[in-house]
Amino acid sequence: MKNVLVTGGAGFIGSNFVRYLLKAEALARVINLDVLTYAGSLENLNELPDVSRHTFVQGDIGDRALVEELFRRYEIDTVVHFAAESHVDRSILGPQLFVQTNVMGTFTLLDVARQVWLNEKSIPLEEVLFHHISTDEVFGSLASCDPAFSESTPYAPNSPYAASKAASDHLVRAYGHTYHLPVTITNCSNNYGPYQFPEKLIPLMILNGIDGKPLPVYGDGLQIRDWLFVEDHCEAIHRVLRKGQTGETYNIGGNNQPTNLEIINTICEILDEKLPSSPQVPHKKLINHVTDRPGHDRRYAMDIHKIQNELGWQPSQDLESGLRLTVDWYLAHPEWVEAIRKQQGYQTWLAQNYQKRGAAG
Ligand code: NAD
Ligand code: DAU
Repeated sequence: MKNVLVTGGAGFIGSNFVRYLLKAEALARVINLDVLTYAGSLENLNELPDVSRHTFVQGDIGDRALVEELFRRYEIDTVVHFAAESHVDRSILGPQLFVQTNVMGTFTLLDVARQVWLNEKSIPLEEVLFHHISTDEVFGSLASCDPAFSESTPYAPNSPYAASKAASDHLVRAYGHTYHLPVTITNCSNNYGPYQFPEKLIPLMILNGIDGKPLPVYGDGLQIRDWLFVEDHCEAIHRVLRKGQTGETYNIGGNNQPTNLEIINTICEILDEKLPSSPQVPHKKLINHVTDRPGHDRRYAMDIHKIQNELGWQPSQDLESGLRLTVDWYLAHPEWVEAIRKQQGYQTWLAQNYQKRGAAG
């Protein structure tokens, strides 16, 4: 792991991972390829531990000429592929970009890796790895009595986002199987923590709560997710890069099963405690049920025995401690929040997604 191409490294998980990797791997150089969509920002890359080993390149993973040039110029031996359109609600309103980025973008990266690593044999095969970051959403939705998703659960993606991620997983697997490209895949549950764009549940609820705006709960709010603190995810990916078996997939999750309403109530209680003189106390009064997400998956749960047993990884934060760290981070970074609030596109998104929802029927 000398020259690591991180795609999407200016986004939420990618930027946390770049920070993590520069600390964990003292000799690794990171080439960070990110096109900087609404979700990516150079502000996410403040406070890197060693900027001299980090090179940022603004560009598209679908730009084959650029990707080939980066592979050759920086002698890339490891790819950690985060870049994606990542928000389910946006995929429902505009699926095409999800196919373009998540499917075609992943295809381009894989095909360049095949060209440079396998055809040109630029680096010994045992020294290269293409690691793909995926999601639990590819497995579909669980009923309350179903066992958790394991690595052998059949794919059944329900949203355009999940379908595009499933397609990209299949391409990665196929390149491993057909061409013997060294690949690994991780499927992770919902992440939360510093630098998450406030379109996703947890940062949206924290910021709306601070501002005294309604907390929009889709439908009955009894949907269940498995939540993982982002630094725990970074550590798990690092384990897979170091010790994972080529060709294998690993599930990653936080071993918890709260409903959305439980998460929102906990955030409200933490805000009450941290901001006791706020006029919004008790923050729970802001909870507002709105029209549900179309095709909303009811429940996700991850069986993480494989990564625990084979690679010795397990989450270090529980949900309560991780949520406290997250609320603290958003309270301590008003300038980061302000920069997003000023984005024209962010306000347009909020209007597009929430104005027509009204109260849940
Ligand atoms: P994010 O939306 O915060 O960041 C995505 C990043 O990718 C942004 O910086 C964006 O600019 C970049 N990007 C988008 N299109 C690009 C392109 N064509 N070329 C180059 N860069 C591009 O996403 P995230 O939440 O950090 O998720 C990262 C990855 O992890 C995604 O693949 C996502 O599917 C996966 N994942 C996310 C979660 C989660 O809870 N957030 C959970 C499991 C898996
Ligand atoms: O499970 C992993 C996935 O988690 C990742 O692959 C995705 O990239 C990531 O966005 C996330 O998807 P979700 O749809 O689960 O996350 P989101 O934060 O959008 O929503 C979490 C739950 O909260 C979900 O049941 C929908 C609900 N929700 C969300 C928003 C934004 C609300 O009730 N209100 C909201 O305003």
